[in-house]
This record gives sequence, C-alpha cells and structure tokens, in this order.
Amino acid sequence: MSLSERETAWTPSSWQSREALQLPTWPDERVAERVHAELRALPPLVFAGEARRLTRALGEVAAGRAFVLQAGDCAESFDDFSADSIRDKLKVILQMAVVLTYGSGVPVLKIGRIAGQFAKPRSSATERVGEMELPVFRGHIVNDDVPVPASRVPDPTRMLTAYHQSAATLNLLRAFTKGGFADLSQVHSWNQEFVAASAEGRRYEAIAGEIDRALRFMGACGVDLTTDSPIHQVDLFTSHEALLLGYEEALTRQDSLTGQWYDCSAHMLWIGERTHQLDGAHVEFVSGIGNPIGCKLGPTTTPEQVVALCDHLDPDRTPGRLTLIARMGADSVREKLPPLIRAVAESGHSAVWQCDPMHANTFVSESGRKTRHFDDVLGEIQGYFAVHQALGTWPGGVHVELTGDDVTECLGGIGDILEEQLPLRYTTACDPRLNARQAIELAFRLAELLRAG
Ligand code: PEP
Ligand code: CO
Repeated sequence: MSLSERETAWTPSSWQSREALQLPTWPDERVAERVHAELRALPPLVFAGEARRLTRALGEVAAGRAFVLQAGDCAESFDDFSADSIRDKLKVILQMAVVLTYGSGVPVLKIGRIAGQFAKPRSSATERVGEMELPVFRGHIVNDDVPVPASRVPDPTRMLTAYHQSAATLNLLRAFTKGGFADLSQVHSWNQEFVAASAEGRRYEAIAGEIDRALRFMGACGVDLTTDSPIHQVDLFTSHEALLLGYEEALTRQDSLTGQWYDCSAHMLWIGERTHQLDGAHVEFVSGIGNPIGCKLGPTTTPEQVVALCDHLDPDRTPGRLTLIARMGADSVREKLPPLIRAVAESGHSAVWQCDPMHANTFVSESGRKTRHFDDVLGEIQGYFAVHQALGTWPGGVHVELTGDDVTECLGGIGDILEEQLPLRYTTACDPRLNARQAIELAFRLAELLRAG
C-alpha cells in the first residue's frame, strides 16, 4: 500500500489491524469496551489549537531558535498524587528553564511528562519477586505495583482513574502557570529549602537576584510590567508515551475547525523505543493524529529506519511535527548518533533533535535497585552536544526524568548520592529520577554547553 493510500485509510482505530506490542490483555474485554465508551463521552483534556501552538513552538526549535526542555516522572503514580507533588515538579521545571534561559539567552520551550504519563513499556512480561514469578507492573493505568498476584491483574477501570487524575493535574498546572505562581517575580519562591542549601541552590539564588534587579530596572525605566505578558505567565505543555492505544483512541477527537484528528489526552505524544516498528500499531496510530509527535531512537536504530520513520510520520515536512529523541547511552552517543543526524539532514527532513540521557544509562545497583549515575547522564548530553557541534546541527533539547522531591534514586551529582544511600528515599514507580538538586545542577551544565555552542 502506498503512503497516500495508507493515509486515507487512517482512522483512530486503524491501528487495531496492526501488530500491537506492549499492550495488556484485559481479563474481560467487555469491561474494557465499556470503559472505552465512557472515555469517548468524556471531555477532551487539551484542545487542538493548543497542540497546533506547540507544533509551531517546536518548529522554532527545529529552526535552531529555541531549546526544548521535556521533563517529569518516568511513571506518574496513583499513590503519589497531591497538589504539593505537582507544585514541586513544576517548581523544578521552572527553575531549570530559568537557569537555561538566563544562562544561554535562548528561549526555552517547556513540556512536562505529566498529566497522563501512566503506561509503561516493559522488557519482560513477568518479573521475579522472591519466590514468585509475577506479571510485570505496566503502570498505574493498567495494574498496581504491589508485588502480589491480585495487584498485577490488568484492570481497565484504571483508565478512568488515569483520565480523572490527568484532568485534575492539568487543571492545577493551568492555575499555577497562568494564575501568578509562575510569575517571574516569584523566581525566589521556586527554590525549595533542600535545594537552596546546596551550592547549586545558591547559584540559582544569585540568578534569581539578578532577575529581580532586571525587573526593577525595567520598571524604573517606565516599562509597564503590570499587564499580561510572558513575565507573568508560562506556557507548559503536556506529553506522555502513546502506549495504551485503546485509551489514546478513545480520547482522539476530530477538530471542528480543521477536520483533522487530534489525540486530546495530551499536547504531545511520543512512541517508545520498543514500539516504533514501521508497520506496527503505535506508528500507525500516531501517523494520523495532528499533534506534534516524538519517537525514541535507541543505539540499534539504522539511518534507513529513521529516514523511513520521518517519511512516514512527517510526510508533509511540517516544522515541529516530529521530534527524534535519541537515547544512545553515554558510551555510544558519539558513534551512533552522527549517521542518523546525517541521514535525516540528507533526506531533507527538519525534525527536532532531542537527547534522552536517561534510558540507555540505566543499570541495576549491587542492592538490586535500578539506578543511573549523574556522570553518565551528563556524559551522554556532552556527547550529544559535541556531535551536533561537529555536524553544524542544532541540539534541539533534552528529555529527562525528574521529580521535585528529595529522592535518592540516581547516583552522584553535587550531593554525591552513594550506592548505600539509594534505599533512603527511593520512591519511583518505575525508573530512577533526578532529584531537584541534581536537575538544577544539570540545567547549569546544559546552559554552559549551550553558551559554548
Ligand atoms: C520512558 O521514556 O520511560 C521509556 C520507557 O523510554 P524508552 O522507550 O526510550 O525506553
Ligand atoms: Co523511564
């Protein structure tokens, strides 16, 4: 089937005729169908116009005029759900964005892995816990992480909980970002106590002081700072992995203005390293939605595969439509990434390049916990910047897993978290996240790299 025939054949459910990896088997399909019907009747979480605005903003990144910071939990949790945890995550994203913008002078586009990041792809269908072989945890939208057999049975009604938690999260984020909390005059208040006490926290305070001074200077010069402006409000877009396709299909709606279909569960959707087969269900689904989309690319990706994905996912070559999220590993990025960047450039596509320095740098610690070392995260980013500098291409952005909490999940960083400290506050529902201090340290290092480039 040619590309254009495929396009005309696309519907929100056309993915169902393709092989779909990583999807749960619901114990009773009729219950899942009832949940899907209920979701189809619920309001969209985002609007098509917002998704188009994000595509345009990503187009600026593709053109080398902005940098994208995409950040949030590996997996949002039904258990750790509170106004405080949402606020603290937003604080650290705002702090990172301030450090990056102030340090580099480049506009920073902010996208959260938030308000819908619930479904997880897994390397194995089962896991061993003590003597038991259990079905693996697939994210709170599918089953529960408690290691007993009953918790691991996929429960489709969890999709409704995920929808409502996403709606409540998004509502609070909209209030925080538009209602004064994200106002630049609040720049000091985003610095949490446990961060402020560290060297990076003090470095942040110094920038915050300079921003205060600049605002007072502009006010003294007669610039009216009271009206609505980017000084008072922030745009924070939402994103998650489009993994659980029944849920995504149910939230896919036709835009009345353009007739185009949008997945209204988030502004941006991405497909993961395990589900980007060209003829697979996930690629089929995202190929037809109007949202900006992302695709993870691991170290085994070939130049031919990435160009085929570009041709298929962005046939019209719309700036900002497609973000290629490279997750190669600190040791591989300098070797594996250049052929992909060259092939995309030669094909005439102008995708946004982004570095995910997390997912190819994971290992299991001696105590049996999944972790990452700050030096590897930074090392992959340094390699990524070096590759782009050598090729004369724009290192569009980063994609990181973090939390606003004072967790001990990733090793190293300014507070030098050690192997034996991992158990202290290891609370992630899936992969290890940078804590707020490590995230701000990373932002300072990123700002230096951007400036140097
Ligand atoms: C993730 O982003 O949490 C993830 C599972 O990534 P990847 O598909 O790159 O492994
Ligand atoms: Co992850």
